[in-house]
Amino acid sequence: NTYDLLVVGSANADLVVGVDRRPAAGETVLGSDLVVHPGGKGANQAVAAARLGARTALLARVGDDGHGTLLRESMESAGVDTSGVLVGGAPTGVALITVDPSGDNSIVVSPGANGRLTPDDVRAAGELFAGARVVSTLLEIPLETVAEVARSIADGARLVLNPSPPAPLPDEVLAVCDPLIVNEHEARVVLGTDTEGGPGDWDDWARALLALGPRSVVITLGADGALVADASGSSRVASVKVKAVDTTGAGDAFTAALAWRLGTGEALADAAAYAARVGAAAVTKEGAQVSYPTAEEVAAL
Ligand code: RIB
Ligand code: NA
Repeated sequence: NTYDLLVVGSANADLVVGVDRRPAAGETVLGSDLVVHPGGKGANQAVAAARLGARTALLARVGDDGHGTLLRESMESAGVDTSGVLVGGAPTGVALITVDPSGDNSIVVSPGANGRLTPDDVRAAGELFAGARVVSTLLEIPLETVAEVARSIADGARLVLNPSPPAPLPDEVLAVCDPLIVNEHEARVVLGTDTEGGPGDWDDWARALLALGPRSVVITLGADGALVADASGSSRVASVKVKAVDTTGAGDAFTAALAWRLGTGEALADAAAYAARVGAAAVTKEGAQVSYPTAEEVAAL
């Protein structure tokens, strides 16, 4: 294969302000100086995998503007193949992010050019798909584009999907996920359960998700680690305790690391344990892409 990982997803400029607390409706609060970081769940995954040493390509769309240049530079310096990064149609996506003193974030995304990544763009990228061992995608691009990605997976390749921001998924997409990676909130949306109810313990959640068709499932549980499951059973993966500075994009680093390691033939639980270390390293620094570790830094954690 030419690529260990092909990511099909979003690229955003992250406009980040630190706040003591978030404003209520109608309220104004003062925050820190603005920082502009390269972000977006797709570009984040691509940079995370490339930093770890994976041969990585990104299929995405940015605007013909300075934010697009910022993203291209971030990806190229990490070693991502950007031949699939298309330009034009709308401004580069922007994420408006506040980070609080505990390191937690809230994010509003203006999709911009990400919303113009079409099924035709996917069909035109046949060479990238033919060369990819693993393809990873997410929901900051149109759902019809994600469906075309699911149809484009080459024989012998696997699809990894983190449905974020969450939306109900068509059966044809669910059927090829290996794994589907969700947190509790995303699991609720995919299962169509309300905020109160739910299947019971996490094994029940995993079984309910598997019943929708994916070949495997990873449920991320924050400080409680993760649960991985497939037809042969389930197992828990411990979290790695670190002091959180900025959790932005840590989930993207987790997903990218997991996808890459699965492509090397590693078992799901082992790949998830490695990915948990990568995600933990990412939360110890500000920003998303700028916080991602090298394989040496993961080993030293
Ligand atoms: O997952 C983190 C990412 O979500 C940020 O980089 C932001 O761009 C949004 O897409
Ligand atoms: Na970070």
